[in-house]
Amino acid sequence: MLLNGKLITHKNIAGDYYLMEFKSHELAEAAGPGQFVHVKCGSTNDPLLRRPISIHKADKDKGIIALLYRVAGKGTRLLSLMEPGDLLDVMGPLGNGFQLPKPSEKVAVVAGGIGVAPLFFLVQLLVNAGNDVQMYIGARTSQDLLAVKDIKKLGVDVKLATDDGSAGYHGLVTDLLPEKLQKVDRIYTCGPFPMMKSVAYLANKYNVPAQVSLEEKMGCGVGACLACSCKIKINGESVYKRVCTEGPVFNAGEVDWEC
Ligand SMILES: Cc1cc2nc3c(=O)[nH]c(=O)nc-3n(C[C@H](O)[C@H](O)[C@H](O)COP(=O)(O)OP(=O)(O)OC[C@H]3O[C@@H](n4cnc5c(N)ncnc54)[C@H](O)[C@@H]3O)c2cc1C
Ligand code: FES
Repeated sequence: MLLNGKLITHKNIAGDYYLMEFKSHELAEAAGPGQFVHVKCGSTNDPLLRRPISIHKADKDKGIIALLYRVAGKGTRLLSLMEPGDLLDVMGPLGNGFQLPKPSEKVAVVAGGIGVAPLFFLVQLLVNAGNDVQMYIGARTSQDLLAVKDIKKLGVDVKLATDDGSAGYHGLVTDLLPEKLQKVDRIYTCGPFPMMKSVAYLANKYNVPAQVSLEEKMGCGVGACLACSCKIKINGESVYKRVCTEGPVFNAGEVDWEC
């Protein structure tokens, strides 16, 4: 659906990171974890294309959607200038979203940097469903560790890692995983491609099903332009799939990590 949601709050939470909330009962009702919205950035035709941003939170009771984003270029910079009261032009919810596990399953959720954006919504649903969740969040510095307090508030044990050692383990978040993955039934991950590739490798090694949320540059967002195609292996053969409609979530074992 295409809609205008009134911005309720919009703040710079650290460095280039922003958190916005807007009102839309329809979107909050329809949204699932791992889905995204295609957002019009700015009031002119430049940039022409919408920008994909994951649904960070969806409060069905209050009809509020939250987006957590990093200013990466022109579109997101224009987005960051919007103020409470402005109308946000969004299309969504788009994409397939994560497949939820059985409530009895133990789950590891691995986030890298802004990759935590779609994972909060997922973790919230997993906790509500009664899943045992272990969360791992890695980032370049402590300033890039996002949503940690919110996730801890859900009662989830969160392990942190930073590249510079300014918080948590000094090193890659994937270093924390090997022994833990042997004790979980399922893994979900979103973050930089090399991190997800490592998670996929470990998931395969320990024979744990994993789902990854891929990022590709997008055009239309609805399956028409093929700008977002990525290589997926089906029965050993590589085929192109559209991240906007057939993703962004894929089984880790099906992604062609060498592409
Ligand atoms: C399904 C999906 C969900 C996303 N969710 C979020 C989110 O919740 N929060 C968030 O901050 N970002 C998210 N992104 C990334 C976000 O869409 C891009 O950062 C944004 O489109 C950049 O637009 P821009 O005009 O600001 O920058 P541009 O000027 O278009 O690009 C700036 C830089 O970012 C790179 N870039 C642009 N788009 C992408 C992309 N899709 N993937 C990887 N690199 C890109 C460009 O190559 C360039 O180097 C998501 C992307 C996808 C595909
Ligand atoms: S963005 Fe156009 S097909 Fe995916």
